[in-house]
Amino acid sequence: MISPAEDLLAGSSISADLVVVGTGVAGLSAALRARELGLRVVVVTKAAIDDGNTRWAQGGVAVVLPGTGDSVAAHIRDTMVAGAGLCDEIAVREILAAGPAAVAALRERGAVFDAGPDGAPELTREGGHTALRIIHSGGDATGAEVQRALAATAAGIPVLERTVVTEVLRDDAGAVAGIALLGADGESAVLPARAVLLATGGLGQLYTATTNPEVATGDGLALALRAGAAASDLEFVQFHPTVLHGGPGSRGRRPLVTEAVRGEGAVLLDVNGAPVTTGVHPLGDLAPRDVVAAAITRRMAATATDHVLLDATGISGFARRFPTVWAACAAAGIDPATDPIPVTPAAHYHCGGVRTDTSGRTTVPGLYAAGEVARTGLHGANRLASNSLLEGLVVGTAAATAVARDQAVTSPPGPPRALATSQPALDRDDLQRAMSAHAGIGRDTAGLESAAALVAGAPQRHIRGVADAEDAALTVVAAALLCAATARTETRGCHVRTDHQGSAKRWRRSSTVVLDAAGRPVLDEPATAVVA
Ligand code: SIN
Repeated sequence: MISPAEDLLAGSSISADLVVVGTGVAGLSAALRARELGLRVVVVTKAAIDDGNTRWAQGGVAVVLPGTGDSVAAHIRDTMVAGAGLCDEIAVREILAAGPAAVAALRERGAVFDAGPDGAPELTREGGHTALRIIHSGGDATGAEVQRALAATAAGIPVLERTVVTEVLRDDAGAVAGIALLGADGESAVLPARAVLLATGGLGQLYTATTNPEVATGDGLALALRAGAAASDLEFVQFHPTVLHGGPGSRGRRPLVTEAVRGEGAVLLDVNGAPVTTGVHPLGDLAPRDVVAAAITRRMAATATDHVLLDATGISGFARRFPTVWAACAAAGIDPATDPIPVTPAAHYHCGGVRTDTSGRTTVPGLYAAGEVARTGLHGANRLASNSLLEGLVVGTAAATAVARDQAVTSPPGPPRALATSQPALDRDDLQRAMSAHAGIGRDTAGLESAAALVAGAPQRHIRGVADAEDAALTVVAAALLCAATARTETRGCHVRTDHQGSAKRWRRSSTVVLDAAGRPVLDEPATAVVA
């Protein structure tokens, strides 16, 4: 299945109907559907096929299964409430209604979910859900099982591993004409393609501490912005309330302590043993994620500490039910059966992204996006837990169908325009510190402007390899996020402004950002429509 870039591209006139960038749930779902539709599809990933965000997802897939007493209407309502007024109701209805069929298809592809003695999938609960509706696998290793099943089914689809896309190329009319890429040894190539689907995941590496793997550097969002696409809701970065606290100043990817641990009875206490969310929200510790993360942040400030405690000692069989969390705790010398788990919020999920319809179409002809990199309108200002694997499955599949339909009624692109040779790129450490200090939970104008000034002064860098491409991606993505966050002078969902507390009616709408001719982010109002 794996074809090194040089073998696939060497001296050949290969071209693709569709290049899929990324190998998570959305990318592989799209590639599989594209193959079914007879499209020539090539998948590109800068890492290995299993290295994306998907495999780290613990909690599960939120889906309404028949015979559970739950309803899609309730799932829609919970999603809209969590989204704090910014969900696109049509997108929410469409994506969630497609959930049961998407999960059935995934099971047909071999994904196995945990089942009770009667053979029916076990259901759990996470923040913001008013019903038990989350199916899981391997206890708390759902993403890994989804990834395994999709990757196994994708055997035979050409995958360029360790290959970074540096630019989405367009023709003189602005339509997608292919990609520019760099192979593992820095060799450059151009792959002509009629369509490109970005499925690159999120941007957690913008922050010093994140649940995201090292590859989550905002690549797809950066490629889309540079290709002229519009992006929406960029200011909404969801912080997961509970990652394992690694001690003062701990950095990089932090082990997640899935919300399902609270769903099954664990409680949040501060370092003095007082409950954290009492009186904050009717759902208490299972309030939507933005509410819990903000409550923890306030309590850490009030108790002058950098963590709170998650008491899971009342859960019997913890190691069996949550083997991934248990192993991370054990490695840190904590036994969740007897010890409270020290936890703290960390960057987890980008609710905004490349503006798309529910079939992944962006504002650029031939460019599609699906999964975390995209903003369909499902998540609004705060994603409901475990809605993202479902979105990746549904929209990834729909995007490939859209590509086939669009290509049936459009002409192939002309030759690609010249490539950019350098990009602004900041030192990653400087950028992460600035974003964590000023664009995390609790933002104000002065902080946002100081971070934006740092980013605006980024020096040009020649893109010679993956690290350069990633730093350049993080830099442009930070600039766009800061632009949206500065403009939104209110607090809503995961965008918490200390200088504008409370939500404002006039802000009950999405913001949209594009790059101007000089590559600077500007607000684009009203939101640009997506095109085929
Ligand atoms: C979790 O298991 O708490 C995370 C799941 C998600 O982010 O949807």
